[in-house]
Amino acid sequence: MQTDIARTLGIEFPIFAFTHCRDVVAAVSKAGGFGVLGAVGFTPEQLETELAWIDEHVGDAPYGVDIVIPGKYEGMGELDAEKLEADLKAMIPEQHRQFVDKILADHEVPEVPQEERMQELLGWTAATAGPQVEVALAHPKVKLLANALGTPPPDVIEEIHASGRLVAALCGAAKQAVRHKEAGVDIVIAQGTEGGGHTGDVGSMVLWPEVIDALGDTPMLAAGGIGTGRQMAAALAMGAQGVWTGSLWLTVEEADVPPAQMQSYLDAGSRDTVRSRSWTGKPCRMLRNDWTDAWEAEGNPKPLGMPMQFMVTSNAVQRGHKYPDQAKDVQFNPVGQIVGRMNKVRPVKDVIFDMVSDCIDASERLNGLLNQNADA
Ligand SMILES: Cc1cc2nc3c(=O)[nH]c(=O)nc-3n(C[C@H](O)[C@H](O)[C@H](O)COP(=O)(O)O)c2cc1C
Repeated sequence: MQTDIARTLGIEFPIFAFTHCRDVVAAVSKAGGFGVLGAVGFTPEQLETELAWIDEHVGDAPYGVDIVIPGKYEGMGELDAEKLEADLKAMIPEQHRQFVDKILADHEVPEVPQEERMQELLGWTAATAGPQVEVALAHPKVKLLANALGTPPPDVIEEIHASGRLVAALCGAAKQAVRHKEAGVDIVIAQGTEGGGHTGDVGSMVLWPEVIDALGDTPMLAAGGIGTGRQMAAALAMGAQGVWTGSLWLTVEEADVPPAQMQSYLDAGSRDTVRSRSWTGKPCRMLRNDWTDAWEAEGNPKPLGMPMQFMVTSNAVQRGHKYPDQAKDVQFNPVGQIVGRMNKVRPVKDVIFDMVSDCIDASERLNGLLNQNADA
């Protein structure tokens, strides 16, 4: 199942898997797909540890790293991370911090000791993502860097290209895709609104052909709502060079997702997600729960912009990770509408195998239709 991108990257199947979990990255790449590690939650030192682990466990297979440098955010232009964090902290209303504490106290989610608290400003800015790029480029098996929420800055694109890697960027509209192409991005990932995480408001079925036509000879990977080989076949039939998936990997055996959170995903239906700004400040698709409802309710504080909202909520993310049972109804559960089909925990290699065989069946079904017409 070869496309130009698959050949260029030396992978067997054009199935890209975004995940925050190193075990999933290694398992996908070893199974013939292309694992991509989301770096946003890691400090540069932690990222180095994760990539060293992947290098050891991925064999000779290639993999990718995903960073987040948004096209627009509060404090943009400030490249000193410490100063940026201090400036942004001073702008956060105390009322927001109190509101977060109240939601968690109402649900009896315990505090995290002060000395264990994570850094509030993580990789949502050029200042914090820059060092992550340096770390990623020191690992030869990293063959692609992807950026979310905007076109990567020119110096970042140049640096990645100079090291012989490919640059990809996500988009949710054809206009953004053209901006990426004009900036020199090699691969555009078009994510329809169905997808998990930050997402626009145009559905995949409408978005993909719009982006493919706008891009001309720049390749596009299709994202948003892909959980079966039939959906993959549809994307390839439209002209995508591969599929970029995310939600699917939250319920695999290798995923480092606590049992209570995993159960929320396994139980959810395709109508149980919502696009909410309540965790990061930008619209992000996640499971609807008491937390997302609280930020929508009249009279309550409204989410701040990126990255300030995450600075307010980072402690809640951490409390959710540490106490997943208590935080069940106020947990950050980013996931797409395909969650309705994620009903069973399976190993990565079975997910890839099923997707490929389902995609082949769908192609044969289409071919069969063509042959019937030819015979008639
Ligand atoms: C839990 C989760 C976290 C995500 N975080 C990021 C991120 O940090 N960077 C990014 O480029 N995309 C992120 N995404 C989006 C994925 O890269 C991908 O485009 C999306 O999941 C595709 O749609 P699907 O969820 O329907 O497969 C995230 C998706 C999920 C489910």
